Amino acid sequence: MDKKITEISESFEKELKSVSSLKDLEEVRIKYLSRKGLIPSLFDEFKTLPKEEKPKYGKLLNELKNSVQEKFNARKKELESASGGEAKKIDLSLPGRRKKLGTKHILTQTTEEIKSFFKGLGFSVYEGPEVESDHYNFEMLNFPPDHPARDMQDTFFINEKFLLRTHTSPVQIRLMEKVKPPLRAIMPGRVFRNEAISAKSYCLFHQVEGLYVDTDVTFAELKGTLIQFAKHFFGKNVKYRFRPSFFPFTEPSAEVDIWWEPKGKEGRWLEILGCGMVDPNVLNNVGIDSENYTGYAFGMGIERMAMLKYGISDIRLFYDNDNRFLEQF
Ligand code: PHE
Repeated sequence: MDKKITEISESFEKELKSVSSLKDLEEVRIKYLSRKGLIPSLFDEFKTLPKEEKPKYGKLLNELKNSVQEKFNARKKELESASGGEAKKIDLSLPGRRKKLGTKHILTQTTEEIKSFFKGLGFSVYEGPEVESDHYNFEMLNFPPDHPARDMQDTFFINEKFLLRTHTSPVQIRLMEKVKPPLRAIMPGRVFRNEAISAKSYCLFHQVEGLYVDTDVTFAELKGTLIQFAKHFFGKNVKYRFRPSFFPFTEPSAEVDIWWEPKGKEGRWLEILGCGMVDPNVLNNVGIDSENYTGYAFGMGIERMAMLKYGISDIRLFYDNDNRFLEQF
């Protein structure tokens, strides 16, 4: 038994050294370590030994087995790293990992769609500042000094004079101060209101203002333009209504509602925009002669438009930056 153990140990070491590939190594493994290999057969022989010899050889055999296994593992590692190791395991036929491409935010897409419709009608695009003065946000728009919209509840005031604009209408004033009629422009931008945050209202949102001033602009034109727009944006079967309303800077004023029927729920009217004929006081404020000129104006909420068009039920989703939401558009 002693002799066999030494022999096997020596021949194993010799053969292991001469091995030069993983394939050869596998042959050595089969010869020595597999179920019918030389080492397991020694264990078979061990069973036939007389009782008193068993402790000694049991120990020796276990040592042999462990040392052979260890040496085998070490050699295997050596050969694997020499032949490229892990790199060899890369399967080049697997499909690649795609990089996800970003998309424009749904609000950007909606704004662009609205812009492109009005550009097609000859409107240009104009923008104004988000930090506004009370003068432009309210005064020039014919808000009386005690109008409730000036209340701290709705407006984020910066100081006595400045605030975050509560609508895009001040851009109308800035434009009319600069450009003589005829003028036709849309004015997209971010607006801010100090309202309780809920599924329906957020502290900031976006509007697109529209303004058309010329010598003979009529309410009929305003109506025609907005109806065309609603059909373009929501589809030609859209159900809409004009409802009389009030804004300090338009007279007469109206609001447009869209019939909204979410799947499985009861339908209802939802307001999408405010509009009206520019109040003569506003024209006079900017030095446009209200005897010779008339104009129409409208202002729509972009979030509201997108929510209706795409069935988005919570305005906060636009601002969460959750990929699961953004990816859908
Ligand atoms: N500025 C109004 C609002 O924010 C909307 C509006 C714009 C109404 C232009 C009439 C004309 O509610």
